[in-house]
Amino acid sequence: MLSTILEKIKNATTGSDEKLIGRQIDQDPVIEGLVNDLIDEVMVKNQQIQTIQKPNSKFINSAKEKMDRTGVLRGRPLYHSYIGTGAGRGPYVELEDGSVKLDLINGIGIHIMGHSNPRVMKAAVRGSLSDIIMQGNLQPNNEYLKLTEKLVQIAGRKSKLKHAWFATCGTMANESALKIARQKNSPAKMIFAMKNAFAGRSTMMAELTDNAAYKQGLPDYNEVLRIPNHDKKDPQSTEKALRAMKEYYSKHEKDVSVFCFEPMLGEGGFQPVPRDFYLPLIDFCKQNKIAVWADEVQTFARTGEFFAFETMDLGEYVDIVTIAKTVQLGATLYTEEYNPKPGLIAGTFSGSGSSMSAGLEILDMLEEGYLGPNGRILAIHKKFIDGLNHLNQTTCKNLLQDAGGMGLMIAFTPFDGKKDQVELFIKKLFKNGIIAFSCGKEPVRIRFLVPAIIQDMDIHLALDIIEKTVLEGLS
Ligand SMILES: Cc1ncc(COP(=O)(O)O)c(C=O)c1O
Repeated sequence: MLSTILEKIKNATTGSDEKLIGRQIDQDPVIEGLVNDLIDEVMVKNQQIQTIQKPNSKFINSAKEKMDRTGVLRGRPLYHSYIGTGAGRGPYVELEDGSVKLDLINGIGIHIMGHSNPRVMKAAVRGSLSDIIMQGNLQPNNEYLKLTEKLVQIAGRKSKLKHAWFATCGTMANESALKIARQKNSPAKMIFAMKNAFAGRSTMMAELTDNAAYKQGLPDYNEVLRIPNHDKKDPQSTEKALRAMKEYYSKHEKDVSVFCFEPMLGEGGFQPVPRDFYLPLIDFCKQNKIAVWADEVQTFARTGEFFAFETMDLGEYVDIVTIAKTVQLGATLYTEEYNPKPGLIAGTFSGSGSSMSAGLEILDMLEEGYLGPNGRILAIHKKFIDGLNHLNQTTCKNLLQDAGGMGLMIAFTPFDGKKDQVELFIKKLFKNGIIAFSCGKEPVRIRFLVPAIIQDMDIHLALDIIEKTVLEGLS
């Protein structure tokens, strides 16, 4: 064994003076072949996963024991009876009880290329062959450069965004965004944010989030001015929002630093908003030198273009944009004007080499037929929404209302949209084979973050299960 390694070292060293060792690792056909063989072998196992399966009695007890133990250890039970085995195929995932589920929420939107995607896995393994696990702001490797370059390139096509700074999650990307906006517009501190917004879990992002349940017992810092949302039933809603903004501004003149909005509210209910709603608000902010920040943590890569600001043609106005989830880490993008002073944003971790490598691969894959008006994302949206509307008008008799959203973000209101009903519906969907989640308040809605690799036959299966679950009722 040792002699083989020594022999290889000798071969690698011969003539290596022209190539960095890092490049030798990157370009070595033997390493490439081993990575391919490794993932191909794993995929042979994953290919056994075909479609939804019920739990297997052989594994039910051990799975329950693991889930109970996890719940005790973290002090709160799991939301779904879900511990993954580490195996999956496309939109399907194997759980510890032997069941296979159709995963339409994907860890709240992380696995846009589905489970065990061989290209994503290969990229992740390549990223993990680095000398380090986590890359840092002080210690970037090549994946850091490549992903930053890609993000700046795709963001810069339709906006003035020029820079990208990594964070480990959406919340931290948002923290950077807020600090950048406040520093530039210092000493202004107040924030315009939408009603029902969700911005993450740090102290400040909980303040920005408009959900009392997510900040019970936390102090209120009174730094957020809440703008009412677009309401498709109210033709006056744009005027009302602008009026609210102006009224707040007259009380807090020179003290508003930033307007933060999700192009479509995620947690807030997946109700698309027309461009014309945002334009007067943005225009007012621009006139008053208030930063325009689009929180695209949930919308990024899902609306049929990379950015929802492209889909909604708002790119020329954004000063700061935050993303996370699909790209496997967080990032804050900003214009030259908003480039912060040294020291404001940093942090030990930027992300793992394997996250960066996999994130880059996912972005490349998305450019292969998923984006654009004729891309797969919009085709998936249409198929799903048409199917849901058809069910609502036929067998489901208005118990599956208001199907909509943008691209891979799809929601509908089951029954009357009451919280308890929707919670029960989610549990029943899970039992019948679909992993889903909720969003919105009054009504509460069923939320899907559909993986881009879903096939038409999987959508048909999803619709059959939704129909069956509605017809089972809520008893
Ligand atoms: C719009 C929006 N902003 C911020 C976040 C927070 O991101 P993370 O959970 O990665 O911290 C989320 C997460 O769901 C989100 O949807």
